[in-house]
Amino acid sequence: MKVTDAAMIRRAPIGVFDSGVGGLTVAREIIRNLPNEKIVYFGDTARVPYGSKSKDTIIRFSRQIIRFLRTQNVKAIVIACNTASALALDEVEKELDIPIIGVLKPGAKTAAETTKNGKIGVIGTESTINSGMYRKFICEQNPDIRVYGKACPLFVPLVEEGWLKDPVTEEVARRYLNDLLQEGIDSLILGCTHYPLLRSLIRKIAGDSVSLVNPAYETARELGELLKSEGLENPEDEKDKGRPYPGQYRFFVSDAADKFGRFANSILPFEVETTGKINIEEY
Ligand code: DGL
Repeated sequence: MKVTDAAMIRRAPIGVFDSGVGGLTVAREIIRNLPNEKIVYFGDTARVPYGSKSKDTIIRFSRQIIRFLRTQNVKAIVIACNTASALALDEVEKELDIPIIGVLKPGAKTAAETTKNGKIGVIGTESTINSGMYRKFICEQNPDIRVYGKACPLFVPLVEEGWLKDPVTEEVARRYLNDLLQEGIDSLILGCTHYPLLRSLIRKIAGDSVSLVNPAYETARELGELLKSEGLENPEDEKDKGRPYPGQYRFFVSDAADKFGRFANSILPFEVETTGKINIEEY
């Protein structure tokens, strides 16, 4: 590789993808932790939700999105979606010659390090919980830990409706969390992109004795380490341009770009000016 090629690759963006808007909670952590990096975000808003779909379908969708992100010359990819991380990461990473990470391993590692009583709860979509992947990764860290999973399918539509503190959401959350809390968990993985937005409600129900683990934090940290170890960090000189500089963060969806833009503006620390709409089935 020529020196100029290496320098160009370091300046390339990171591809981040999710089934829709939820992955913005992961993008937000990457933006906070790695302010020097560029991001191309893709939200598959035409085909959301992923949480109730089969492994084959999620692998097919992930392959298409990765093909799109490669057209944007990304240097690394983050699967921000828990469901796609659980069902597709193993498969797609074999096919890639650039680094790719998901959110499950970083989340599982933090939870295994956080628990004191060895009882961890995991909440996520049906597909994530049924995959058993969080349990697998936690037990790789420490086989003595007991893992209690609970699918919470109503959380995603409630968050997208903006009912973050609504009494209806609180009642739903109590029902979902009750069994896990009765097991005596001391750590709870928020194993779905949308759940960090329910953090204060979940905190209210779970109480202060339960540590809430947001895999997005640890994923952003792990991404930073990965870029460093692979010599892929963006050089400091782009900092002079102010934050965010034009083109630093670019957003694409497969449908309903306006709705996505409104949601993004409520989550991200800056205004998203344009969201491009692409036909993902073409990739
Ligand atoms: N992004 C998905 C996840 O983290 C939640 C939304 C969906 O079901 O697509 O699992």
